[in-house]
Amino acid sequence: MSEEKKLWGGRFTEGTAPLVEQYTCSVGVDSRLYAQDIAGSKAHAAMLVKQGILSPEEGQAIASGLTQIAREIEEGTFVWREDLEDVHMNIEHRLTELIGVPGQKLHTGRSRNDQVALDFRLFVSACLEEWAHLLKNLVRVLHTQASTHREVLLPGCTHFQPAQPVSLAQHLLAYAQMLRRDHARVHDALGRARVSPLGAAALAGTTYALDPDQVRESLGLEAVFANSMDAVSDRDFVLEAVFCGSVIMMHLSRLCEEIIIWANPQFGFVRLPDAYATGSSIMPQKKNPDVAELMRGKTGRVYGDLMALLTLMKGLPLAYNRDMQEDKAPFLDTHDTVAPSLAIMAGMLAELAFQPERMDHALRAGYLNATELADYLAAKGVPFRQAHHITGAVVAYAEERGRGLEDLTLDELRQFSGDIAEDVFTVLSYVHAVTRRTLPGGTGPGPVHKQLEDIDAWLQA
Ligand code: ARG
Repeated sequence: MSEEKKLWGGRFTEGTAPLVEQYTCSVGVDSRLYAQDIAGSKAHAAMLVKQGILSPEEGQAIASGLTQIAREIEEGTFVWREDLEDVHMNIEHRLTELIGVPGQKLHTGRSRNDQVALDFRLFVSACLEEWAHLLKNLVRVLHTQASTHREVLLPGCTHFQPAQPVSLAQHLLAYAQMLRRDHARVHDALGRARVSPLGAAALAGTTYALDPDQVRESLGLEAVFANSMDAVSDRDFVLEAVFCGSVIMMHLSRLCEEIIIWANPQFGFVRLPDAYATGSSIMPQKKNPDVAELMRGKTGRVYGDLMALLTLMKGLPLAYNRDMQEDKAPFLDTHDTVAPSLAIMAGMLAELAFQPERMDHALRAGYLNATELADYLAAKGVPFRQAHHITGAVVAYAEERGRGLEDLTLDELRQFSGDIAEDVFTVLSYVHAVTRRTLPGGTGPGPVHKQLEDIDAWLQA
């Protein structure tokens, strides 16, 4: 129990129980918001000076005291005190230690309720901007790999069973499209996060002649709060950010799953770069995709963070409730998962060695040209259902003999349908199957080229 009175301790005669002090303290988590707290306080103090509430000398003392505190924190000499509860009171306490009375005036017209909301909005916004940057970088890597592998074909799957041939570019660009949507979602969320709650004070606004718009402007935010009670108790911006993070992780996790499968020697579609794989302590032949596995695993943590936050908020009456202090750990956990996952995926993908000959082998073994034969028959006037049935029989015949459809002779094929002629062999070519898919968004070279161009324009923008 600390001997000193709490900053809020005017009406208290006894100190806080030690266990309660630990229980209520958040500085171990929210000290990570120190830069935002200092920026917010500087903006608030400058506004108080402009409004004639503080003298320019007081404003100057506050600004230089806060700069010194930032330096102390960055140099590791700042002493964080649990008995001072949170980042806000640690900094304010130190400020008063350094500059005396002006430090005690900083909190004029402000409450920790609007202060913490501001700090957190600034922090979440900075993280979202980082994610947006990392997403773009990952799309760039996918774009590069897709353009180098435009000619490579692999089995496209449905139900995870070989279905139809697709280009590797088309497969990779599917992920680029997901990540572009993530980028758009992050931007949209940023718009709602970048709102200044300062001036809402505890919950009802304040009687001081503050200028909230000046604070907004000096912090580069987009809007000022519309309702003081909402301003101090709205955590939608955190939820939206963690939802964005959840979808990003879900996309990364799907890609991880493919990489894990592709790296299995039975597929052998990719070779993992050494820098992104690990060995086994007992089985010398192993090269494990641990990085992709961990990323898939960590996805669950982020979903957990989202659920924790939704549950945290669901029963809270207006306005601020201390429960909300629990909003920071889940967000930080999400950020500490999403940001490195995006960076690592970009690094791993850039160095992933695709194995086109293994993909080609899998194409041939999987009868991925069966749909082409059915469409061929249908084009010759055979009703599609019959064409489907005939093709099924041809597949069974070929499978029994361990051959591909394209390896059968014309005579063999004609046993199944007199409509089959020499031109069937063009149709059975895998390259042909892909090339014919020329409609926008398809796997043909034309639409893939168009996608590459669109993504490139987006990357340049
Ligand atoms: N540490 C608190 C939080 O993170 C700051 C706001 C505290 N406000 C209060 N009235 N106790 O939510």
